[in-house]
Amino acid sequence: MSTPNIKVAASVLAARFDKLGEEVRAVDKAGADHIHLDVMDGHFVPNISFGASVIKSLRSCSDKIFDVHLMIAPVDPFIEAFAAAGADIITAHVEAGPHTHRTIQAIKHAGCKAGLALNPGTPVEAVEPLMDDLDLVLVMTVNPGFGGQSFIESTLRKVAKVREMIDRSGREIDLEVDGGINPSTAARCVAAGANVLVAGTAIFGGGPQRYAAEIAAIRG
Ligand code: DX5
Ligand code: ZN
Repeated sequence: MSTPNIKVAASVLAARFDKLGEEVRAVDKAGADHIHLDVMDGHFVPNISFGASVIKSLRSCSDKIFDVHLMIAPVDPFIEAFAAAGADIITAHVEAGPHTHRTIQAIKHAGCKAGLALNPGTPVEAVEPLMDDLDLVLVMTVNPGFGGQSFIESTLRKVAKVREMIDRSGREIDLEVDGGINPSTAARCVAAGANVLVAGTAIFGGGPQRYAAEIAAIRG
C-alpha cells in the first residue's frame, strides 16, 4: 500500500454560520488543506445546508482547495453553478442517479476535479468501473446529512478495498473519509489507506484557539 501525503479538510458545516467568512479564514490560517463544503438538499439527505451562492461568497476568504460535497439529487443541472462559484473538486454521490459517468464528465467539462462518494451501505464495486476518470473517492464513514455522528466501524474495510483499487489503477486518486473523524478514527482511516480526512465537529468544536491544534492532531 502506498499512502500519499495526508490532507485535512475542514467541514464548515460545524462552523458558526453567523461568521462563516471568519471561520473559513481561521481554519485556512490554522493549516487546513481543503475547505470542505457540504451541500444538502432536503431530498437526497434529510437536511438542508447551503448552496452555490454561499460558496461563491466564501471564495474570497481562502485560496485553499474548495472541496464541494454534493448531497443532492439530481446533480447534473447544478454542476456549472458550483464550478462558477469556485469549486476546485466537486464530489457527487453514486446513489444520486443512474448516470454517474455522465456526471463525472460534466464535472470535468466544468473545469473541476471529479469525485464520487459512497454511502456506508453502498459497495465499493460501484466506483470500480470509473477509476480511470476519477480524481477522488469519498468513503462516507457516517450516513450523510448531519455533523456530529459516530464513526461507523465497518466502513474501514471499504477504505482498505478502495485503497487497493486505487493502487491497482496506477493513477493518483485521493481517498477521502467523512463523518465522525477525530484524531483516533483518523489514524485508523489512514492505516486503512485514506489520505484526505474531513472533520467538522473535531475541528470547530473546541473554538478558534484550538483549530490549529485539532487540525494537527487529526493529521497525526
Ligand atoms: C455529513 C457531512 C460531513 C460532516 C462531518 O453528511 O458530509 O462533512 O460535516 O461532520 P463531523 O466531522 O462532525 O462528523
Ligand atoms: Zn461532507
